[in-house]
Amino acid sequence: MRVLVTGGAGYIGNYIVEELLENGHDVRVLDNFLFGDDSLDPFRDHERLDIQEGDIRHIEDLSYAMEDREAVIHMAGIVGDPACGVNEQATQAVNVEATKTLVEVCKLHDIQRLVFASTCSVYGASELMELNEGSYLNPLSLYAESKIDSEEIILHETHDMFSDNEISPTILRLGTIFGWSRRMRFDLVVNLLTAKAVLEDDIPVYGGEQYRPLVHAHDAARAFVEVLEAPQEAVEHQVFNVGDNDLNYQIKEVGRIVEENVEGAEVRFVEHKEDERTYRVSFDKINHILGWETERDIEDGVEEIKGWMAKNDITDYEQDIYRNSTYPYM
Ligand SMILES: NC(=O)c1ccc[n+]([C@@H]2O[C@H](COP(=O)([O-])OP(=O)(O)OC[C@H]3O[C@@H](n4cnc5c(N)ncnc54)[C@H](O)[C@@H]3O)[C@@H](O)[C@H]2O)c1
Repeated sequence: MRVLVTGGAGYIGNYIVEELLENGHDVRVLDNFLFGDDSLDPFRDHERLDIQEGDIRHIEDLSYAMEDREAVIHMAGIVGDPACGVNEQATQAVNVEATKTLVEVCKLHDIQRLVFASTCSVYGASELMELNEGSYLNPLSLYAESKIDSEEIILHETHDMFSDNEISPTILRLGTIFGWSRRMRFDLVVNLLTAKAVLEDDIPVYGGEQYRPLVHAHDAARAFVEVLEAPQEAVEHQVFNVGDNDLNYQIKEVGRIVEENVEGAEVRFVEHKEDERTYRVSFDKINHILGWETERDIEDGVEEIKGWMAKNDITDYEQDIYRNSTYPYM
């Protein structure tokens, strides 16, 4: 397939590029490289990769990038609760308005498949044992709200009564991602606790009772490619949670796993007003319909981050480049 990946230089995006190329697809990236483009270095000269710098808010950039494409994986956005709070207008423009434009440009270019990166944080806080794709949504942040708005745009506005060619949309609600990536992020819980453990022998756990569904960046990328390659009838107009039932962890359990895997580091519980966001998610649907399952667990993520930090002498995990909320979104 000829695929466009928006946000292809990002933390998850570069894994998607790698997976698509490995599976024989032709890939184009559209990204404004907020965090640089080094993550694409290993693939830069690949004959099936085309890299375009541009902004998803600009219709010309989207239109140029969609030329001759059959499918779009839409990853670009302002990502995470703190980052979305930096400039709320920019968040609305990038995470919601640009989605509308993207859908219209998809129609103009007869795009067949559109896969969108949403988040399990749309479920917000819930006492339910397990949330599934039909559960009530309870967004507790602008980030989560912007994702719900985009889901609705993608599911409802892809239908075009004047065209024979219908876009087939799929929404993937990803758990909280962890693991090493060529665009590294240390503002995600597993990665941050690992960095603190390695450099400071300290694993501060705030509260700790709250649940999060976790999933490795590489596994998340595999899910996007799996959906793209699945029979259209199985995935069109579907929402799938992406993760693993066994990777629903309380933050205090994540702290313990990091402790067991980083010698000399100790969990320190910090009294804290409990994080309101707590949710356990069922991943049965993606497993039953596509037979998809995760390959990496938290221990794998901790090990690879530890190894990468040692090899590259990473001593400052607080650098701006590793955190999304430090960028002055315009
Ligand atoms: N990381 C997670 O825990 C997580 C969880 C659930 C969902 N997601 C979703 O997955 C997607 C990717 O997240 P990520 O962790 O890789 O984030 P990221 O910040 O590393 O990647 C986002 C990419 O989008 C690009 N981008 C931002 N604004 C743009 C614009 N206006 N035009 C073009 N490109 C732009 C950035 O340069 C970056 O390369 C996002 O949509 C995010 O909401 C991520």
